[in-house]
Parts: sequence; C-alpha cells; structure tokens
Amino acid sequence: MLLLCPKIKHMQSWSEYQSENKDRFLDELLGLLRIPSVSADSKYKDDVKRCAEAVKEHLLKAGCDTAEICPTSGHPIVYGEKITNPALPTILVYGHYDVQPPDPLNLWVSGPFEPEIRDGKIYARGSCDDKGQMFMHIKALEVMIKTNNLPCNVKIMIEGEEEVGSNNLGKFLEDNKEKLKANVVLVSDTSMISMEHPSIESGLRGLTAVEIEVTGPNRDLHSGVYGGAVANPLNMLCKLVASLHDENGHITIPGFYNDVLELTAAERKDLNMAPFDLDEYKQELGIKEVWGEKGYTTLERTGVRPTLDLNGIWGGYQGEGSKTVLPSKAFAKITMRLVPNQRPAVIGELFQKHFESIAPGCVTVKVTRGHGGEPVVTPTDSPAYLAAARAIKTTFGKDPIPTRGGGSIPIVALFEKTLGLKTVLLGFGLDNDNIHSPNEKYDVFNFYKGIETIPYFHKYFAESF
Ligand code: BES
Ligand code: MN
Ligand code: MN
Repeated sequence: MLLLCPKIKHMQSWSEYQSENKDRFLDELLGLLRIPSVSADSKYKDDVKRCAEAVKEHLLKAGCDTAEICPTSGHPIVYGEKITNPALPTILVYGHYDVQPPDPLNLWVSGPFEPEIRDGKIYARGSCDDKGQMFMHIKALEVMIKTNNLPCNVKIMIEGEEEVGSNNLGKFLEDNKEKLKANVVLVSDTSMISMEHPSIESGLRGLTAVEIEVTGPNRDLHSGVYGGAVANPLNMLCKLVASLHDENGHITIPGFYNDVLELTAAERKDLNMAPFDLDEYKQELGIKEVWGEKGYTTLERTGVRPTLDLNGIWGGYQGEGSKTVLPSKAFAKITMRLVPNQRPAVIGELFQKHFESIAPGCVTVKVTRGHGGEPVVTPTDSPAYLAAARAIKTTFGKDPIPTRGGGSIPIVALFEKTLGLKTVLLGFGLDNDNIHSPNEKYDVFNFYKGIETIPYFHKYFAESF
C-alpha cells in the first residue's frame, strides 16, 4: 500500500543518493571548471556569461522551482529557489562562479581550465574558490530535493563579481529585499584547518584597496646624464612604501589602529588553542622565518590584526638585459586587510592623507582609492552556528573548532546591513589549496564531504525553529 504513495516510494536516503550519483557530480563540476569565468579581465566576458547560464541550468536540474539570470551593470547574478512550504524557515545560499585570473600560466602543471584529477585532488582555477564549494550546495540541494527530503526552503544566489569586489551585488540586495527574505545566509567560500581538525571560520577581515602613481621628470631619462640629480620615481616609491611599516611590523599610518578592537586575554587564548605547527607552516611555504607584527602570534596576525601589502609594483624597464633608464613614472597597488571595527572608507582616507603628506617635493604622488569591504564577526552561539557545528560533528565525528579567517568576502557585511541576516561560513577548503595561485586544487574528498554535510545543516537549522 505504502508503495502507492509517490513520496514514500521515492524516499531514499541522502547518502544512498549521493553515492549512486557521485561520479556524475564530479563530472559536472569538471564541466564548470572548463569555463574560464575570469571576472577581472573583459576578454573573458562571454565565458563569464556562459558560466552563469551553466549554473542556472544546474539549479533547474537540481530541482529548483525557478532559476534566472539577473543582469547587472557588470557580470550577471544567478538566482534560484525551491520553496517547499512558506511556513518553513528559509536558507539563503551564497557563492560565486567567477574566478581569479590564472596567471602565471607557466607554473601550472596542467592547464588552469583543463581540470585534472591527480592524487585525489582536482586541479583547476576555481576548483576550491569557489566553483567547487558553491557546486556542493547545488548538489546537496539536488540530493535533498530528489530524495523528497528538503527540510526547509532554499534560495540560492551565485554571483559573478566576488573576485572584483562584488560592486553590483549591494544594489541587487537593496532592490530585492523581499525576494531574498530568509532566516540565515549560508556560504562555503572559506577554509578549514584540516580534515582531521574540522573548523568553522567565525569572522572575515575587511579590505581596502589603493593605487599609487609617482611621477618624476616629464619623460624617461638617461640615468647617466641625469642620474643623481633628478629624483627617480621608482626609488622614491620604494622608500615611501618601505616607510609604511616600522621595525616591529606595525603600520605607521597615523590613526590606522584607532578603531582596532583588541581581543581580551581570554579571547586570545581561545584563538591560539587551534592546532597550529609553526615548523610545518614554515616548511610548507619554503620560508626560514615567519614575519609579522611584534607581540602577536601567526594565528593572531592573520585572524585579528590588520595588514598592509603591496600586490604589485612596477615601472621602468622589465625586459631582457639591462637598460640604464631613470623612469618618468612608478606605480604600485596596495591592499590593506581590516579587522573590527576598522572601516574601509576611513582607512582609505587615512592612507591617502598620510601618503601624500610624506611625498617629497621632488616627485608628484597620486593616490586613487579602490574597492573595499567591511570586516565581519559571525556569532558562535546562534542557532545557525550550532546547526553548522552539529552538521560537522555528524559527518566528521568531531566538534569543529571556531577560527578567525584572514580572507575577505565583502558582501557578508551587507547581508547583515541590508537584509538583516547573519551568515554561517561553512567552508571546506584548505589553506594550502593554492587559491589565487597556480595549481589551485580542491580535494575530491572535501567536495564529497561538503555535499554530505550541507543537508545536515539544513535539517538541524530547520529543527531549531
Ligand atoms: N574565498 C575568498 C575569501 C577567503 C579565502 C576567505 C580563504 C577565507 C579564507 C574570496 O573569493 C576572495 O578571494 N576574496 C577576496 C576579496 C576581494 C577580491 C575583494 C580576498 O580576500 O582577497
Ligand atoms: Mn571565494
Ligand atoms: Mn577568491
């Protein structure tokens, strides 16, 4: 008799459905990884669009009621939803389908957009950040829908501009407050300590970007004819940039630390309880010594302290051999990672004022302020965090360790500001997945572990209502 009821007839366990379909799940991910959806470079614009379309098709295939491509003045946002019952709680899943540029190409063992599995790891640009991780959500959704076992409503929003600062997503949130109504945001775009030590990031650093142009003489000069008598903008830029840190690794911009929230002794103790082996860390990175702000541990330096880093510096002659030139201009790109309660606009302004004030009269300095994002701290006692912790306990057999992530996902602060929603960062990457670097990888194991864990989050979260 029971067999006549379609719901029961098709009732299958999540794990059964997952193991029956796991090869296809992986194949489908490889298909997405073959699309070079590089958001920063306009030559990939059509590929980015093609990737958005592929994501939309996957949402429909997973069983979403609707899925659409929402154009923006930049790259499109893909949005889909499955409303089981409006009375049930709703999870808003966020991820990104755009990727970082793949250069330097010559350092990749296999092509960045020709995914290859070696030693149980998927090598491709975006395998971990974030196609592999966002795709786990699409597949987890498929698992729950196809087994008639979705315990809540799901809205899913996958954007194409995360790697360039999510400039159009803020407006999308503003314009679609009603449509995006949910109880929590769930994001897999961060990392864990290891599979043996599962962890959940409970914070992200903010970011503010600046570009510098230093101009000296009105044209490139012979460095013998003029050298020593006219300021070299490259020499000056190096000197100015070097002065931004003191001998203790502190940033010298006046007021830079004014709003930094210092941790209490107890919070610092907790943060440093996370398993961390300094020798292993150095060995893995091929460095003899770590560097950083005096008085703080490596975990504190990446988790709760702000930074200032050159991301690029150029000018003058870069070709083969040598050229005795005194260049007319020098350039640099700098980003600063921010922590609570620093604000990107304030820090950008402090930087600009300071940098202009230390510029010597022999050169002209121009500072242009770029994109930014606010730092966030996510609660570790909310029902959503507890549901995530329970989900991990279920599939890893261990309680997750709360950590503070060093990376930034600028939109997370806006989920709270615009939609009033807290975020859970349920990431499955590893710090050594080479995100933004050559040979980015994602372990097949982590991919499947994510698909296995995510449905439990939905279940436990829904049960907490
Ligand atoms: N997924 C990363 C952020 C991340 C990585 C958080 C690892 C925690 C651990 C994201 O795609 C990213 O790279 N964000 C950029 C921000 C940006 C370009 C505005 C970043 O952190 O540099
Ligand atoms: Mn990412
Ligand atoms: Mn990234």
